[in-house]
Amino acid sequence: HVLDIDPNAASKGTYEFYMLKEIDEQPSVMRKISQTYFDENDDVKVDPKIIDSISKADRIYIYAAGTSYHAGLVGKTMLEHYTGIPTEVGLASEAGYHFPMMSKNPFFIFLTQSGETADSRVVLKEVNKRNIPSLTITNVEGSTLSREADYTMLLEAGPEIAVASTKAYTAQIAVQAVLAKALGEALNKAEAKDWNLKHDLAIAAEGMQQLVDSKESLKEIADKYLIKSRNAFYIGRGIDYAVALEGALKLKEVSYIQTEGFAAAELKHGTISLIEKDTPVIALINDPATADLTRGNIQEVVSRGANVVTIAGKDFAREGDNVVLPTINYYMSALLTVVPAQLLAYYASKDKGLDVDKPRNLAKSVTVE
Ligand code: AGP
Repeated sequence: HVLDIDPNAASKGTYEFYMLKEIDEQPSVMRKISQTYFDENDDVKVDPKIIDSISKADRIYIYAAGTSYHAGLVGKTMLEHYTGIPTEVGLASEAGYHFPMMSKNPFFIFLTQSGETADSRVVLKEVNKRNIPSLTITNVEGSTLSREADYTMLLEAGPEIAVASTKAYTAQIAVQAVLAKALGEALNKAEAKDWNLKHDLAIAAEGMQQLVDSKESLKEIADKYLIKSRNAFYIGRGIDYAVALEGALKLKEVSYIQTEGFAAAELKHGTISLIEKDTPVIALINDPATADLTRGNIQEVVSRGANVVTIAGKDFAREGDNVVLPTINYYMSALLTVVPAQLLAYYASKDKGLDVDKPRNLAKSVTVE
C-alpha cells in the first residue's frame, strides 16, 4: 500500500492547515520586506524609475479584487497622507467595463497576490491601450499582471497556498507603505521624511508576534460567539472600516457565516434592524480620531441584544475588551488589527470542521471574469 504523500505536505510542516501557517509567518514577512526595501544606511530602496514616473501623477488609481482591494483601501490612506497625491481605489471588475474618469496625469497601481486575476487583467489592458503608466504589486514574479505592467514591486511573502489570503494582505499594506515613504520623500513631504518606516515595520512584526502567540484566546472567542451563529458583523471607522471589510470577507469565505463589514456609524442608517439577540458584532477600535464614537456605536448594538467582541488599540482599551492591540502608527494599524480577525476566521472554520484551506466554490486565483 503506497502512502498518499501530499506533495506540499513538507511545506505544511506541523500545521494542519496552510492558513494558520501563513498567519504565523506574517512577522517574518514584515522583516523580509524591511530587508528588501531598505539599504544598509536604513534608507528606503525603491526603483528610481518607478518613483520618477509616479511622482508626475496628479492622481493615483489603485485597482484590485477581494482582499487585495481591501489592502488598497489602506494603501490609499497612506499614499494620500505621506505624498499628498489624491488616490482612489476601485474594484477591477467594475472598472473593466466602466472605466473611471482620468485626471490629467494618472498613475495606476494593481494589487494582486497571484498576478493572474482576470478582472484586474481587463483593466490593465485598457490602461496600456491608453498609455497610462502602471505598477503591479504582486507575490508572483513573472506573473501576467507583472509582465504587462510598466513596473513591479514584489511582496516577498513566500508562496501563499490557503485560498483565504492573509500574509499577502499584510504584505501588500507594508509594500504600499514603502512606496508611500519613497514617493513622499521624493516629493519633499515632511510627513514622509520624518517617518521612521523601518521602525514601524519592526513594531508591526513584534506586535504581530504577540498576537499570534495569544491565538488560543481567539479560538475561545470564535467557539463562544461565532461557530453557532448564522450571521455576524464587523464594524469600524477610518482604517478600521477597511479592516472590517477584510475581517468580514475572511470570516465568511472560510466559515460560511454570513458576515458584513460596516462603517460603525452607518449601521444606524438601516442595517441595525438586523441586529437581534446574540448577533455577534466584532468592533475594531484602533483609530484615535473616532475611538470614543465607536464606543457609542457599540452601545447601540448592545442595547439591541448583540454579543460584542471588542478589538481595541492599547491606547483606547477599556476594562473588558476582548483583545488589546499593541500601539502602532495609525497608518500602519491595519497590520495589527487584522491579525485577530484572521485568527477568528481560521478557528470559526476549523472548529466547524470545515476545510479551512479550500472553502467550497472558491479558487485561489480567479482567472475567469
Ligand atoms: C481573499 O481571501 C480571496 N482569496 C480573494 O478575495 C482574493 O483576494 C482575490 O481573488 C484577489 O486575488 P489576487 O490578489 O490574486 O488578485
